[in-house]
Amino acid sequence: MDASFVKTSEVQTLLDRATGQDQEGGNPRLKTILRDILEATAEIIVRHDISESEFWGAVNFLSQGASEFGLIVPGVGLEHFIDLFLDAKDKEKGLTGGTPRTIEGPLYVAGAPLVEGEANLTKDADDTETLRMNGQVRGPDGEPVKDAILHVWHANSQGWYSHFDPTREQTPFNNRARIKLDGDGRYAFQSKMPQGYSVPPDGPADRLLKALGRHGNRPAHVHFFIEAPGYRKLTTQINFGDDPFAADDFAFATREGLLPVPNRQGEIAYIAFDFELQRAAGQGEEGFSARTRAAA
Ligand code: DHB
Ligand code: FE
Repeated sequence: MDASFVKTSEVQTLLDRATGQDQEGGNPRLKTILRDILEATAEIIVRHDISESEFWGAVNFLSQGASEFGLIVPGVGLEHFIDLFLDAKDKEKGLTGGTPRTIEGPLYVAGAPLVEGEANLTKDADDTETLRMNGQVRGPDGEPVKDAILHVWHANSQGWYSHFDPTREQTPFNNRARIKLDGDGRYAFQSKMPQGYSVPPDGPADRLLKALGRHGNRPAHVHFFIEAPGYRKLTTQINFGDDPFAADDFAFATREGLLPVPNRQGEIAYIAFDFELQRAAGQGEEGFSARTRAAA
């Protein structure tokens, strides 16, 4: 059987009717895109001669894996692909420069405490390494960005994020804050050095990665959103350049320019890191994407 089977009128009519092409109502963009997804799926089924058992195995994986889709999407590289696509579109418009964007990941929680001045993010009492990070948020001409809010979140020394921690040992918003910066764009915080993250063992993401012969580990990292009036909202993260997984991140979030090596002095790891924002073309660029996020 070859791919021309999908082009037979019986299959084409099925795809049209299934996506409401013969109906007035509905969302035209959704109808068009879903039709393309279904046709591509049909072509893949034919090209690989997918059996009935394999087909239902895939449906079962998708339904069982739904709770981990936020992990699977970065794991299969699609979240990074979206960054590459946004970068390519920016480049086409001549919009380059600034701190690179990189994936948000699934573990942000809205509503973290809004703090001013030097922040302490952690309530962890463990005697692991302290992280001290500071720097400045600047614009394209080197100007300090005024009135920025820097959202920061990271895992604890065991690799768990508060709110998503199965051990339930973290206080709400542990290792999370929104830091309100003043006129000079400078920030400073201290916290506990995060440990690299790995996907929950034996869950759907882990099973998929194993079936691909891959692992589910990320280097230790710290996430940021930066929003400021007049500037494009930045979604990024730093990954520690000396982590064993710095060059082998299962989520493809590590990027050149985002891999600082901490200056380790005794029990303290220091990172100095400046951010550069792009100027916003309009207010639509200052805000968050419409992604559904956890809130507490
Ligand atoms: C995942 C976890 C992260 O901490 C992150 O930054 C990106 C992805 C994940 O579980 O897929
Ligand atoms: Fe993360």
